[in-house]
Amino acid sequence: MMRQRKLKDLDERMEDLADYLDKDGRQNKGQWRKVFAQQLIASSWEVSRMLYEGVMSEEELEQSLCPPDSQLCLEIGCGKGKFMCDRAKAFPDSMMIGIEGQESVIVRAAEKIREHGFWNAYLISGYVHDIHEFFEDGELDGIFLNFSDPWPKARHARRRLTCRENLAAYMDVIRDGGFIEFKTDNSDLFDFTLEEIDALGLETDEVSEDLHLSDRSAGTGPDEDYQSDDSEEFDGINASERFRTEYEEKFMKKGVKIKYVRLVK
Ligand SMILES: C[S@@+](CC[C@H](N)C(=O)[O-])C[C@H]1O[C@@H](n2cnc3c(N)ncnc32)[C@H](O)[C@@H]1O
Repeated sequence: MMRQRKLKDLDERMEDLADYLDKDGRQNKGQWRKVFAQQLIASSWEVSRMLYEGVMSEEELEQSLCPPDSQLCLEIGCGKGKFMCDRAKAFPDSMMIGIEGQESVIVRAAEKIREHGFWNAYLISGYVHDIHEFFEDGELDGIFLNFSDPWPKARHARRRLTCRENLAAYMDVIRDGGFIEFKTDNSDLFDFTLEEIDALGLETDEVSEDLHLSDRSAGTGPDEDYQSDDSEEFDGINASERFRTEYEEKFMKKGVKIKYVRLVK
């Protein structure tokens, strides 16, 4: 009875948050910038007035708000959404999509987006198996994989997000010059990932066995409340050091070294 009530509550919360998350996402393949432009139009009277006044057509407005070269990134397994929301706040002209399989977790991310009124953060609810179903080749600027489930048993290796089949697919959906960044506490998963990168003949751009240089920042509290700042780096090791996830903070407090690798297409 209790469980049924909990599930009913979850369903109601998901319904309530429908503006911030998509229960499928596949229908937006190749159209994600348009989806964000529509979010921006809906969230701003100043912008939507341009449509009413006929200053431009809807298509022209969408193109000017989120042009093909505007930054669009994805986090797979975004959990409660801290990382993507911190980035959405710090880079208000860029767009972040988070995919998360657990409904009880993604509602927390959607509530953050609603609370802050971010037009540039959006969620897909569900487990991704083949990224090609959601994105056109070259549609994304970057993909973040943060503290992905380790699937420690050898027979489950193909379920790891960083297995070679998945990495190859991620490389398809990022543009030339785009990036993949991976952070983990798990040494076995990190070593496996480096082997898979090697097996695909991909080159690593940056590798660190201790992203936060433990003597400097292990055990420090959350680095919260980012403010947009022109000097802020969008991606790369310094940005990755700065933007931290829920799991990352837990591991850092325990003194666990965070491993990091970055690939560029
Ligand atoms: C260990 S948690 C890390 C959460 C968050 N990235 C963080 O660092 O705090 C991994 C998350 O990835 C999600 N996940 C795992 N595989 C996934 C998949 N194929 N598609 C979507 N979400 C996935 C899990 O549901 C879980 O919430």
